[in-house]
Amino acid sequence: MLRPKKKLYIKTFGCQMNVADSELMAQVLAQDYDLTKSPEEADLYLLNTCAIRQKAQDKVASLLGSLKTLKQRRPQMLIGVGGCVAQQEGERLLRLSPHLALVFGTHGIYRLPQLVQRATQGRIVDVAFSDGYPPLPRRCWQPGQVKALVPIMQGCNNFCSFCVVPYVRGREYSRPPEHIVAEVRGFLAAGGREVTLLGQNVNSYGRGLPAAVTFPQLLRQLAELPGLARLRFATSHPRDLSPDLIAAWAELPPLCEYLHLPIQSGSNRILAAMKRGYTREDYLHKVEKLRQACPGLSLGTDLIVGFPGETEHDFQDTLNLVREARFDVSFSFKFSPRPQTRAAAFPDQVPEEVKADRLSRLQALQAELTLAAHQRLVGQVQEVLVEGASKRSPQILTGRLRTNQVVNFAGPQELVGRLTRVLIIEAHPHSLRGEWALPPQSS
Ligand code: SAH
Ligand code: SF4
Ligand code: F3S
Repeated sequence: MLRPKKKLYIKTFGCQMNVADSELMAQVLAQDYDLTKSPEEADLYLLNTCAIRQKAQDKVASLLGSLKTLKQRRPQMLIGVGGCVAQQEGERLLRLSPHLALVFGTHGIYRLPQLVQRATQGRIVDVAFSDGYPPLPRRCWQPGQVKALVPIMQGCNNFCSFCVVPYVRGREYSRPPEHIVAEVRGFLAAGGREVTLLGQNVNSYGRGLPAAVTFPQLLRQLAELPGLARLRFATSHPRDLSPDLIAAWAELPPLCEYLHLPIQSGSNRILAAMKRGYTREDYLHKVEKLRQACPGLSLGTDLIVGFPGETEHDFQDTLNLVREARFDVSFSFKFSPRPQTRAAAFPDQVPEEVKADRLSRLQALQAELTLAAHQRLVGQVQEVLVEGASKRSPQILTGRLRTNQVVNFAGPQELVGRLTRVLIIEAHPHSLRGEWALPPQSS
């Protein structure tokens, strides 16, 4: 008789890369473990962590502390910490938390079955980096899954002066194009419609691969696959955004009219100190070219306030840049000094209250711009990929426009997982309200 499988619970923090990694963890452990949504019944409890800012890292310590009581109730349960904090802290995490059995780094996912096995004998740490892109197991898709995250590269070689990612994710490696194409084909054959390609800097995709392939070439290969309705990617670095990539928007129908292009600051002095490799003028010039190639493009960005040495004048440059670029959405953060990074040791650290004040001014400006962008959509009929019922009511469906905004509307359950058309009738700060406009397309 088959041995019943044990239960695995995964708590994921951080970026989409971590979400994709958590899926991979579940997959490499699938022979022995089934995923559960309830931590109370877990035999193996994994935390996939993020180290990008101190606040993200603090969440790990606080969750680990609170797991003490669960561990007392379930003494057989194994607790493991993976991801970027695990990579950064290694051994120290074992000392912080006596009920922790396993610490595994960002390259350790593939070794998880053996690591978990060994952790039952005694506590272990594995934060070794491996060279190259490990061959990934064949992906399994959930029934009815319409969207997929597909990693195309790992690591980062940029070393922006504020950023911990190159230290916790290692050097940049690209995944062979034939593996990516095969994975996307498999997803489309299983009924998938939308693919988001993931990498810390997708524009440098292909460097170091035996096959000469660039990111725009990969996009072209994928865009041709029958059944692919929507293609997205994150994140792209403004310095490396090439004319060839910009041209892709005019050429490739599945490529969605949304681009996340993190600028970080509007001040040239600060951009230089951040080692970003572009000026505000370069950035605005690229945005202009992008909008020529794709007139309906919606633009998103990331911004940091209170980088060391940032004056009120620099910050005003950021506010002006945000107005000029007319971002539809932005994610903004207070600078957080990270271990090993150069900016952590810069003089002129900005006081916390100044950072908080700048962040709230910046977010107020962005809220105005986002609402205005939402209002411009009112009265338009837009394509929506329906993702499911809204959290508040099963009668209300929720989905996204090609330009990435969330829209809620009343409609039949059969629409879930399908493309349909919705008339936008109301703009809210974080979403849109719509009315189902047409029966689902047969495609
Ligand atoms: N690879 C992406 C960024 C990934 S990190 C890129 O190059 O654009 C996501 C965002 O976190 C960054 O864009 C930046 O805005 C923010 N961030 C990174 N390090 C930070 C730090 N030390 N303090 C505050 N925000 C930070
Ligand atoms: Fe960090 Fe810069 Fe690499 Fe992005 S490009 S992950 S901000 S070092
Ligand atoms: Fe965080 Fe690691 Fe992603 S630090 S943002 S989870 S790459």
